[in-house]
Amino acid sequence: MDRILIEGGVPLEGLVTISGAKNAALPLMAACLLTDEPLELENVPDLADIASMQRLLQVLGVEARHLPGAPGKLTLTCENVLSTTAPYDLVRRMRASVLVLGPLVAREGIARVSLPGGCAIGTRPIDLHLAGLEAMGATIELADGYVTAKAPGGLKGGIVRLRSPSVGATENLMLAASLAKGPTEIHGAAREPEIVDLAHLLRAMGASVEGEGSPTLHITGADRLSGTRHAILPDRIEAGTYAMAAAITGGRVTLQSCRTELLGAAIAKLAECGVALEPTEDGMIASRANGPLKGVDVITQPFPGFATDLQAQFMALMCVAEGASMITETIFENRFMHAPELTRMGANITVHGSSALVRGVGRLTGAPVMATDLRASVSLVLAALAADGQTEINRVYHLDRGYEQIERKLGNLGARIERVA
Ligand code: EPZ
Repeated sequence: MDRILIEGGVPLEGLVTISGAKNAALPLMAACLLTDEPLELENVPDLADIASMQRLLQVLGVEARHLPGAPGKLTLTCENVLSTTAPYDLVRRMRASVLVLGPLVAREGIARVSLPGGCAIGTRPIDLHLAGLEAMGATIELADGYVTAKAPGGLKGGIVRLRSPSVGATENLMLAASLAKGPTEIHGAAREPEIVDLAHLLRAMGASVEGEGSPTLHITGADRLSGTRHAILPDRIEAGTYAMAAAITGGRVTLQSCRTELLGAAIAKLAECGVALEPTEDGMIASRANGPLKGVDVITQPFPGFATDLQAQFMALMCVAEGASMITETIFENRFMHAPELTRMGANITVHGSSALVRGVGRLTGAPVMATDLRASVSLVLAALAADGQTEINRVYHLDRGYEQIERKLGNLGARIERVA
């Protein structure tokens, strides 16, 4: 298994290009199941999760073509659905596989998807996805570890009220509603930028979608959707991560091809703790503002609140800040798995339920560490970049799920980082 070795202490300097957003790309890829015409996606990041989704789509009958010499371009064509079952072996690798449920039942009248089960950051049920499909006329059966959704006469538009603004449920239901008969209303919808990107795509394919970015979505399905070409929006979490990498090392990094406004409340929190973000024509320059970082409290919230996907990285930053910081996680029940690993690097963190009190220690020291999920892993990378001595990060496959060419990008900024087999 690969490991990453980082020799800390180098202030990062230079330019990094932000990739397309993984979490936007995954539902957009699933949208290819809604049409027999080609869906041409641009700015698709080269990541393990994207490869997993592609493999699943191929099992379902999708032809996937990467244009030679055109990185990031992926054409997906599903002339005929060959299977309506998303098997356990593929779904267990990536929870976002459940996003094929809505489009498959909408197009074929039946879909059978392995239940994803819990994961390192929480139990992550899919009850909201299923209740929404029921409101659109599907019957749901759970047996043998699989969920089967059936709507033999096709889905019908319905009124869906989400108990909490689940990103995945909103996406699954938007995909399904785009081929359902009649109008669907989704109340309590997620407002993340990835939802907005999906709305743009579905509209270009021929569905009527209104209200994206607000808590209420109105979608009227089309009898038939067409293919289209669409460039995936930049990855706001990758951008936030590199901004914090610049700040934690006391460097100055230009983030190219990103949109500051996609960071939501993180912008203000970063400014408050002493990270300067200067806008440029197609991104921003991140550096540490005058003086040391300061401890600042954050609470994770759905967009436009502080993203849970930036919480672990922010904790790494707070470990070396002056003063204390209270970090409260409200989205997932078990998303502090990085705290004990950061503690092994000298951090002072006390976890009480859903809050972690981080007392800044000024310097961290390198250590062998391992992480249990994508953002936890990258928080250890940030800590390692700032630490004295060498850090060895194990279970690198988590990073490969969501950070395109991380060691090349950081290496170009001057980091002493290498991957060893
Ligand atoms: C998406 O996960 C992202 N994944 C996650 O990114 C992100 O952390 C999360 O949204 C929150 O922003 C993708 O987009 C592929 P949710 P998702 O449904 O859709 C509960 C990363 O590191 N819930 O908004 O699975 C759930 O348990 C990742 O890139 C239900 O109770 O998240 C959680 O507590 C990890 N019932 C909360 O809602 C449901 O049916 C939010 O989950 C669905 C969700």
